[in-house]
Amino acid sequence: MIFQTASVIGLGTMGHGIAQMLAIAGMRVSAFDNNTDARESLHNRIRSNMLVMQSLGLLDGIDLDDVLSRVIICETEAEALADSQFVTEAIAEDLLVKQEFFARCEDIVSKETILASNTSSFPMTSIAADLNRPERAINTHWFNPPHVIPVVEIIPGERTSCETTETVLDLFKSIGKHPVHIRKERPGFVLNRLQVALFREMLDLIEQGVISAADLDTAIMGSLAIRWAATGPMKVGDFGGWDVLAKIYEVLAPQMRSNHEVPEVLRAMVGRGDYGLKTGKGFFDFTDQEINEITAEKDRRFMIWSKLFQESNQGNSDT
Ligand SMILES: NC(=O)c1ccc[n+]([C@@H]2O[C@H](COP(=O)([O-])OP(=O)(O)OC[C@H]3O[C@@H](n4cnc5c(N)ncnc54)[C@H](O)[C@@H]3O)[C@@H](O)[C@H]2O)c1
Repeated sequence: MIFQTASVIGLGTMGHGIAQMLAIAGMRVSAFDNNTDARESLHNRIRSNMLVMQSLGLLDGIDLDDVLSRVIICETEAEALADSQFVTEAIAEDLLVKQEFFARCEDIVSKETILASNTSSFPMTSIAADLNRPERAINTHWFNPPHVIPVVEIIPGERTSCETTETVLDLFKSIGKHPVHIRKERPGFVLNRLQVALFREMLDLIEQGVISAADLDTAIMGSLAIRWAATGPMKVGDFGGWDVLAKIYEVLAPQMRSNHEVPEVLRAMVGRGDYGLKTGKGFFDFTDQEINEITAEKDRRFMIWSKLFQESNQGNSDT
């Protein structure tokens, strides 16, 4: 199926980048947010994302104004949904809000329109529980920043049809993303589960005074991250030898943090209001000027790594 029209509802951190990627791929994207500022700033945010991408040679042959002309800012949700072949919501992370949104969609869109959620946590089986046509509803979990990170987790619900799943996998390949088919719904899907597993141990090590936050970042960036980025962790295991890893696992696993409590170091930070960049302090301190510089540098690095990933992983997956 060739998609010509799409809708993106919710234009915050995720939605604006999703709209951008669909428009770059040539679709006419109808966009809506119930916040006026989010609507009015949409084109500027997309333009500034694209200027950074362009400076790194990631948008060769793509005309910025042409892309922006395909992003239509709508004044109502209904206007944004009309004539859409592919609806993505990136609205509030609230199950009822998402359920009600998709119920409204069913009254407006055609029977063939695919309904996608960018939820971080709710299974599509729950979101689509009361839909008349749950077979065309699916989770498509993009990563922040969505216009940069290549992988999107594709998670069908129990009643999503194979046809919808295949169509969506093809769609994401066609827009230059790297879809990964998550074959069973689990809380946090796959990648958020892994992040929490690692954060549990990393925060525990910081709390115990084993390593500082800065040294931990350096240690990961200069070792595991290089190996994982270059080959993926499962191949790292193949290279290292699973016989050795099985022995290390046996010794270390019982000694690692396994309780479900939020580590005290994290609880205290959140209690102090040290949320990170957004409050100027997390594990590190940030001045207003640094925030802009660090964010730009972070985006630049993400794009360089993403480009390397795209070059070395063309067609390289089971999905
Ligand atoms: N931020 C991330 O890193 C990330 C990553 C993956 C998935 N997600 C998921 O994507 C979704 C959006 O997250 P975000 O970080 O972009 O949030 P955000 O707060 O930055 O943006 C949400 C936007 O949706 C708008 N909105 C809320 N309810 C709406 C409604 N009913 N109709 C229209 N607009 C509405 C808000 O005004 C806001 O602009 C959530 O489900 C979140 O869990 C977020």
